[in-house]
Amino acid sequence: MRCSQSTAPRTASLLGPGVAAPCPRHRQPASSSAAPATSPLPADRTTNASRASSSQTASTSGRVSNGNGASISSAVRRTSSPYSVLVHDLHHRLGPKGAKRPVLNGVDLQIRRGSLHMLLGPNGCGKSTLLKLLGGLMTPDSGQIDTDLPSGFVFQNPDHQVVMPTVAADVAFGLGRYNLSEAAVSSAVRSSLRLVNMEDFMYRATHTLSGGQRQRVAIAGALAEDPKLLLLDELTTFLDREDQFGVLQAVRSITQASGDVTAIWVTHRFEELQFADAASYMENGRVVFTGSPEEAKTFMRKLGAPV
Ligand SMILES: Nc1ncnc2c1ncn2[C@@H]1O[C@H](COP(=O)(O)OP(=O)(O)O)[C@@H](O)[C@H]1O
Ligand SMILES: [Mg+2]
Repeated sequence: MRCSQSTAPRTASLLGPGVAAPCPRHRQPASSSAAPATSPLPADRTTNASRASSSQTASTSGRVSNGNGASISSAVRRTSSPYSVLVHDLHHRLGPKGAKRPVLNGVDLQIRRGSLHMLLGPNGCGKSTLLKLLGGLMTPDSGQIDTDLPSGFVFQNPDHQVVMPTVAADVAFGLGRYNLSEAAVSSAVRSSLRLVNMEDFMYRATHTLSGGQRQRVAIAGALAEDPKLLLLDELTTFLDREDQFGVLQAVRSITQASGDVTAIWVTHRFEELQFADAASYMENGRVVFTGSPEEAKTFMRKLGAPV
């Protein structure tokens, strides 16, 4: 969906001549936020439009009520906690009004800041729902969520989120909502592309990219907004093996180079565990295991999985 609302004029040259810039809100939740330590963005920016309550408190500490019985803390608490994600007793139901059924049944989860944390589990166990709640795309029925902010979300199908004609324009897409100079936008775009090893593709047409390259562009689009938490939902589903590992390697380098950017990587491909710092396994709306990749493999073998 495109919005006729014009973009901030300063991003016009990157978006390209004659290209009407889409309203960043309509890219939500494809690329809700995100990146490099040298970000030109204002420190008090609010990048996750769908998470109004959390963006209000991004520069403070403590919790805010989301008005729905749940309590969401949005403080970045580097000094007081080594965790970028703390989830306690999270419950959520989905479905039509009057016929909702439980999807998350008391999720507890702790994820270390700066880690690449993989989330595994059978189809329908609640992985995507948990990710959406962490990203503030939905409000939980009850429970507690503390995360670093801002967060950036990238989904499974790059065709749904790489929407601009050129790589540079696509990465600059979400920056249209900030009043940035052209130089600042260009710098954010370039450094984000560098982080995913796509700097040489800056002026390429997006339709000429492979699936893995498009996913890396989508990640760069999230990174351009300087996220502290990357939420990545089955990014390699449609990719061949080479692209799969290229994308994974890019995410791993981002977490390792930054030290304070955390990535949650949802996957059903067990071979990806080798890239993880830690992993959790979900079943029936709960996290039933968290540990090292090796421990995760042992756990899943006991369940009969072909790990
Ligand atoms: N919008 C929705 N309405 C009703 N049920 C839903 C909705 N979205 C997901 N579900 C159900 O919630 C459960 C968990 O879904 P999901 O979080 O997508 O699981 P996973 O990502 O682990 O495959 C599934 O049974 C799914 O059918
Ligand atoms: Mg899913």
